[in-house]
Amino acid sequence: MNKIWIGTNWKMTKTIAEGIDFTKELKKISNAITSDLQLFIIPSHTSLVPIKELTTSSDIFLGAQNMHWEDSGAYTGEISPRMLAEIGIDMIELGHSERRQYFNETDAAINKKVHAALKYSMKPLICIGENIEQKKQQISKETLAAQLKVCLQGVSMEQAKEVLIAYEPVWAIGEQGVPADAGYVANIHDFLRHTLEVLFAEVGRDIPILYGGSVNHDNFLEYIDLENVNGLFIGRAAWNIDSFQEILKKLELHLESEASQVL
Ligand code: PGA
Repeated sequence: MNKIWIGTNWKMTKTIAEGIDFTKELKKISNAITSDLQLFIIPSHTSLVPIKELTTSSDIFLGAQNMHWEDSGAYTGEISPRMLAEIGIDMIELGHSERRQYFNETDAAINKKVHAALKYSMKPLICIGENIEQKKQQISKETLAAQLKVCLQGVSMEQAKEVLIAYEPVWAIGEQGVPADAGYVANIHDFLRHTLEVLFAEVGRDIPILYGGSVNHDNFLEYIDLENVNGLFIGRAAWNIDSFQEILKKLELHLESEASQVL
């Protein structure tokens, strides 16, 4: 496993026009990238169709922020996996902490969505994370193991090869978030790797585990250097294309200098 996943969920921030401008710029940046990075963007549903037209001729993966698990039915306001598959999206973000917090999304519901995504050959990007109370009560690992086990219930070894995990401690996300200490992140990611290996044996070794939560210019290299961090899931620091470009440039330089040290 050597691809590094770098992407951003735009949450509810960009109009179609803003999303198109961003994506056009990102395509140019992506074409100049030489390292083994897998870039991805996760726009709002309204932007998916026009942005798909742009990402088709690029290496950028396109994701959606949420979906229902049923193919179709009387679920007003929802979007189905069949509809997203029709657009041709590559991945689907599931269980972001804001979905869990404001829309009462449960691990059991996320599990149904994971199966729906796999059925339609879309990669589920499953977000997990403990909240501040759970951290204070020192049940972070128990919480995360339970989230992983329930979200991945019934997923076969073969299907697990398509899954991505994003560890995003709830207390580290957003404006009020406090960036996590790299040592803490290392410890949790090692634990998540171990848990995935218990669940999926050798397949668990290769499931990408991304880190997210107040990732910014000052801290991203500390996270990406950790053994079991296989990518970054960035919010605010990647919503402005210049800011995202700066991160990608620094990352490329960093990876090049690491590669030259190995030679
Ligand atoms: P943030 O968002 O980087 O703005 O903290 C991260 C996320 O919610 O995925």
